[in-house]
Amino acid sequence: MSLGGQEKLKILIRRAAIQKRVREVAKQITRDFKGERVHLIGVLKGACIFLSDLVREVSLETSIDFMAVSSYGKGKQTSGQVRVLKDLDSSIEGLNVVLVEDILDTGLTLNYLVRILQQRKPRVLRIAALLDKPSRRVKDVKGDYVGFTIPNEFVVGYGLDYAERYRNLKDVCVLSLPPE
Ligand code: IMP
Ligand code: MG
Repeated sequence: MSLGGQEKLKILIRRAAIQKRVREVAKQITRDFKGERVHLIGVLKGACIFLSDLVREVSLETSIDFMAVSSYGKGKQTSGQVRVLKDLDSSIEGLNVVLVEDILDTGLTLNYLVRILQQRKPRVLRIAALLDKPSRRVKDVKGDYVGFTIPNEFVVGYGLDYAERYRNLKDVCVLSLPPE
């Protein structure tokens, strides 16, 4: 893997551990919605890989949709502002919705999404996040299905990016950048 400049990657969560945990989370969703249908909404682009793996392990009738939002600029800092870049294709009224995110960080993105999606009257709205960085929380948001709780480090891989790069890494890695 070619790295930009002096960027360094250190594995935080290995692919095998991710696979195992994704299966466990899917089992929990399967148990919680036994006999019902679940509608998974992936938050683009970071959640696309997590959602793809997760949905295949859920043993229920499922449907999927995507939303795209932007909360971060090009780098590591949140702008604090959330914008919808792509809305859902279809109504979620009366559906069991699981909102699928790559990482729950400050909570600004999910807080905003939960607010706008609740207005559309789903039957249930739950949050699945592969990663959770609770130490960074600004808004009070809790994941119903959390893969891993991690320390306050900037991570990439398994869907997560730094300036659109590294989404294809199979492990979740801590990215360190050279001092500016
Ligand atoms: P929040 O709104 O601060 O909770 O941030 C949510 C979004 O910020 C995530 O969906 C990610 O796209 C991005 N983000 C937060 N932390 C990281 C990280 O460590 N690596 C890569 N992206 C991150
Ligand atoms: Mg991102």
